[in-house]
Amino acid sequence: MDVFTAIGQRSSVRAYKATDVEEDKLKKILEAARLSPSASNRQEWKFIVIKNKETRKKLAKAAFGQSFIAEAPIVIVACGTESKSMMACGQPAYTVDVSIACAFMILQAYELGLGTCWIGSFKEDETKKILNVPEQVRVVAITPVGYPNEPPSEKFRKSPNQIVCYEKYE
Ligand SMILES: Cc1cc2nc3c(=O)[nH]c(=O)nc-3n(C[C@H](O)[C@H](O)[C@H](O)COP(=O)(O)O)c2cc1C
Repeated sequence: MDVFTAIGQRSSVRAYKATDVEEDKLKKILEAARLSPSASNRQEWKFIVIKNKETRKKLAKAAFGQSFIAEAPIVIVACGTESKSMMACGQPAYTVDVSIACAFMILQAYELGLGTCWIGSFKEDETKKILNVPEQVRVVAITPVGYPNEPPSEKFRKSPNQIVCYEKYE
């Protein structure tokens, strides 16, 4: 599968089969994160892989009861381990770095036939408590990983001329 096919066909999955994810597939997804770019190549991130069912249920609760998170056999919680660094452009590096790594993981998972769903709606404090995440570390995103138990959803996107302009902002 080429990159554009994965980008074009992937959609968020909110229903999962109980089928386990093969260990080599999980490793490849995590490699996609490890190989991602980061500001000054600092790689200030940690990806927590959760398989324990009770922990998955607690995470789903911390994500405002989005129960499909616990349905998936694996949940990955993506953290920024250094949250103070600001880039010269004024953006914090960790949110950008960890988000790129998550995007790479999500595309890699899709190529392997696995579904994911970026979860940004969660209580960070509760999530950190569940996983013993140190105070200074920030949780950026969560994604379930598993075999989809629903057909791909339709994509709704703005048209190119709504989001692209040339030479100056219009
Ligand atoms: C930063 C971010 C946060 C999101 N948070 C959630 C979430 O908490 N729960 C959820 O079901 N989907 C969440 N999504 C998924 C979006 O709703 C989804 O990507 C969007 O509707 C486009 O659909 P698609 O992923 O199927 O292409 C999030 C996506 C992003 C990028």
